[in-house]
Amino acid sequence: MAKGAKRVGILTAGGDSPGLNAAIRGFGKAALGHYGMEVIGFRDGIRGLAENRYVDLDSQALSGILTVGGTVLGTSRDKPHKMRIGDEVVDMVPTIIENCEKDGLEALVCIGGGGTAKTANRLSKAGLNIIHLPKTIDNDIAHTDTSFGFSTALGIATEAIDRLHSTAHSHHRIIVVEIMGHKAGWLALGAGIAGGADIILLPEIPYSIEPVAESIRKRAAAGHSFSVVAIAEGARDLQDAADLVAAEALVRSANSAEAKAAAKKHRNSVLTSHRGNAFKVAEALEAATGLESRVTILGYVQRGGTPDAQDRLLGTLLGGAGADMVSRGEFGVTVASQGQAAVPVPLSEVAGNLKTVPLDHPWLEAARHVGTCMGD
Ligand code: F6P
Repeated sequence: MAKGAKRVGILTAGGDSPGLNAAIRGFGKAALGHYGMEVIGFRDGIRGLAENRYVDLDSQALSGILTVGGTVLGTSRDKPHKMRIGDEVVDMVPTIIENCEKDGLEALVCIGGGGTAKTANRLSKAGLNIIHLPKTIDNDIAHTDTSFGFSTALGIATEAIDRLHSTAHSHHRIIVVEIMGHKAGWLALGAGIAGGADIILLPEIPYSIEPVAESIRKRAAAGHSFSVVAIAEGARDLQDAADLVAAEALVRSANSAEAKAAAKKHRNSVLTSHRGNAFKVAEALEAATGLESRVTILGYVQRGGTPDAQDRLLGTLLGGAGADMVSRGEFGVTVASQGQAAVPVPLSEVAGNLKTVPLDHPWLEAARHVGTCMGD
């Protein structure tokens, strides 16, 4: 691939999130209109790249998509080095490189979250000119203050907590609301604070049921016979968290392919046994407080639908900055959002580096200041 790209490919990979189309448009319009590049869009993420399925992204294709949810290109969670093709798992990296050469691409823009950063890093090391634009509702990408998708999901989850308050209040119930975020608690913490959840449980702070039950009993004694518990999907009690840490340590220390496979299998069974934590918490709280409990899993509602203003803005900003970087031949980077700026950060520093909530983060302090129980 040559420096100073003229024909560029773009794809969206991983889970969809609001703002993807704003970023496609932001990159595409700048690349086409400002730099005179040609842009093609691969269908369905890495799978489309491996199968060389693409569409031309001309100005008509880029028009009218700013406000649209999801991704007009489609997405998938495929990994290039182990892609399922029929019954086989195949390393498609060589095919991908061939396709990029065949298509005359001088750069490839990968829009996605943490998994996509790893993929982008892998493809960059394999010799492709790559930039990565950070999207995810989880907000867990290292070195970027915010990823697009987060703001919209935060608004949706906050509104859900607002709505759950009135029904919890009317029925004198505990409502446990499960919020996405994978291994990070940003979404649950942000929405929990903004929605005024009484208890917020995060992956970063393993919880015990008793302090949670005690805070609910205190609220009831003070005349508030209802409570809303915002629980991140990755939150675990002390025992489960310790089991997971031990299982992950086994994976890291395994020194043969066989031992690694066995350790991964064990780790996955530990993860599976932790599913349904929201239900376990609701049951335990009902038993410990005598208050009726209900569970709401917000699920995919959090990442569907039209992006809010903030995500449109961020997608447009990072997309345009990405086109600047491609024009300068600045590759192998994530276009990170830092303050008001879009900053190139080497992919090697971003890939595999999860941004979880630091225990001294001001949001945690804010939650504790208003009396929120964090389960510890
Ligand atoms: O990473 C975004 C996310 O929505 C996570 O919050 C969630 O754990 C995961 O994707 C769900 O993934 P899938 O779309 O594969 O079910």
